[in-house]
Amino acid sequence: MRSKIVAGNWKMNKNLVETEALLTELSAKLPDTDAEVMVAPAFVNLASSVRHLESSTIEVIAQNMHFAESGAYTGEISGDMLLNIGVDTVIIGHSERRAYFGETDEILAKKVNTALAKNMRVLFCFGEELEDRKSGNHFNIVESQLKNGLFSLEQNAWRHIVLAYEPVWAIGTGETASPEQAQEMHAFIRKTITDAYTTSIANNVSILYGGSVKPGNANEIFSKPDVDGGLIGGASLVADDFAAIIKAI
Ligand code: PGA
Repeated sequence: MRSKIVAGNWKMNKNLVETEALLTELSAKLPDTDAEVMVAPAFVNLASSVRHLESSTIEVIAQNMHFAESGAYTGEISGDMLLNIGVDTVIIGHSERRAYFGETDEILAKKVNTALAKNMRVLFCFGEELEDRKSGNHFNIVESQLKNGLFSLEQNAWRHIVLAYEPVWAIGTGETASPEQAQEMHAFIRKTITDAYTTSIANNVSILYGGSVKPGNANEIFSKPDVDGGLIGGASLVADDFAAIIKAI
């Protein structure tokens, strides 16, 4: 059975003091849930966040990592550095990394391979831009992002993959995909994985929806059968909102 997951991507927000304050508030407000709850603070605050949440069920995850083991990559962070501080799940392929930092499918596939080789869990993001949706090309785009990023993986590797479908036009814009659009794409993603692998792999991978999920729309989106949770940006920075979204799952 696939797990339900709600992950908060804090992006480049919150300094150390603010991070600890938000974690404290979130821990206090965390509703009872069967879902896995994750937060991704900025790199500089990861180690302290892990310590802060030592006795909590909230998992601390990273927003990114480099594909190389170590070496002359100024400003980058390796998988081993994350593991060493107790972080073993990493977001790879967020649309902001693709758009602003030139992360191509090829680079992302390398990152996925490195993370999986270290037994890390990968939360792999993908999704079409507005023009793709307008021109009816969204299924092709999503299929090619999946293929290029993940379809050379061995079957076993899929146990360590979580998918996050995030239509770029819905990220941080206040515009959400309708629950029907999310369901339609998530079903398509499962079918694409069934065709490339097996039905059981497709049915066991958690597929999160991301893009302007808020307390007001989470219930409806999460009620769709192929939506297994959410990757939450803006609303995860407000403890009450994030707690309400966790409650909705
Ligand atoms: P948003 O961001 O919830 O602010 O739209 C989602 C994301 O970027 O993961």
